[in-house]
Amino acid sequence: MSVPLLQVDGLSVNFRTRSGTVKVLDDVSFSIDKGEILGIVGESGSGKSVLSYALMGLLDDNAQIKADTITFGGIDLNGPASALSAIRGRELSMIFQSPRTALNPIMKVGKQIEDVLRRHGPVSRSNAKAAAIAALARVRIPDPERRYEAYPFELSGGMCQRVMIAMALSCSPSLLIADEPTTGLDVTTQAVVMDLIRDLVRESRMSSILITHDLALAAEYCDRIAVMHAGHMVEIASARTLRSHFAHPYTRGLFAATPTADTELNDLASIPGNLPDLRLDLPPCRFLHRCDRRQADCETAPVPLQAIGTDHSVRCRYPL
Ligand SMILES: Nc1ncnc2c1ncn2[C@@H]1O[C@H](COP(=O)(O)OP(=O)(O)OP(=O)(O)O)[C@@H](O)[C@H]1O
Ligand SMILES: [Mg+2]
Repeated sequence: MSVPLLQVDGLSVNFRTRSGTVKVLDDVSFSIDKGEILGIVGESGSGKSVLSYALMGLLDDNAQIKADTITFGGIDLNGPASALSAIRGRELSMIFQSPRTALNPIMKVGKQIEDVLRRHGPVSRSNAKAAAIAALARVRIPDPERRYEAYPFELSGGMCQRVMIAMALSCSPSLLIADEPTTGLDVTTQAVVMDLIRDLVRESRMSSILITHDLALAAEYCDRIAVMHAGHMVEIASARTLRSHFAHPYTRGLFAATPTADTELNDLASIPGNLPDLRLDLPPCRFLHRCDRRQADCETAPVPLQAIGTDHSVRCRYPL
């Protein structure tokens, strides 16, 4: 069996705040193979961004992080921050939520890409400019020489997102984390940006984590999908298996809430209840109070993520 590019076991993240400890991620385990696109889906507040910041080593100072294993390309990242800072932005790169706010509004986009290139090694002024223009061309920005001179406000949301992708790819990472890369874009532009990310990932044999609250988008673009609810990874499977054999009641709820070509808007069901307050003492199953299949032991007995098939695991005592 090949060694995964990224292996995470037992990752937990708490935040200390004035109103108590917020227990966000709990016992999160997953892996990504080389060349694979893993989708991470879940509603707002489920911990998707916290997970990506934890991998990037970018959590706020009030975070406490604990893990049994985090290895990336054979390197142990589960120790002092130094190992991570050597590979962050190089081997491991991220496209952040909301591209407009991530770009510097008063700097030409070409210069912003050059800055990223320079951070990764010495490069002459003329080489940097040529490389920045090549990076813009690579993300299929028309007329890249002219767009090099543009300020972010002169570009559409979709073009800004391509600039962010160009920056994230400029150092040829092995893993690209894309956090809601199409939020705020219209449906057509969303498809163009997603096709671009998929093509670039395939072309350069990268791996990618695609974070989204849109299960249909993940099902279309990802090889495997992990479903998160309130800081737990509740199900992980190949996209095909998840579509036809989902086993967690929360995944069923997400599918029922996801429009497809055949559903009418009023056929969509919402998932009852809200995410639990992560500052309180939580039951072993964080979906308990929203679940119509719960039994008495769901409140007391721990339930780990368990394999129920080839490449299919679920964190539920009474799966579907
Ligand atoms: N620095 C922090 N201090 C305290 N709580 C935090 C901090 N950062 C994140 N959280 C909490 O962690 C939880 C998960 O947040 P996160 O941003 O990861 O959600 P998300 O799944 O990315 O949601 P969205 O889809 O809206 O982006 C939230 O309850 C959030 O309030
Ligand atoms: Mg987020």
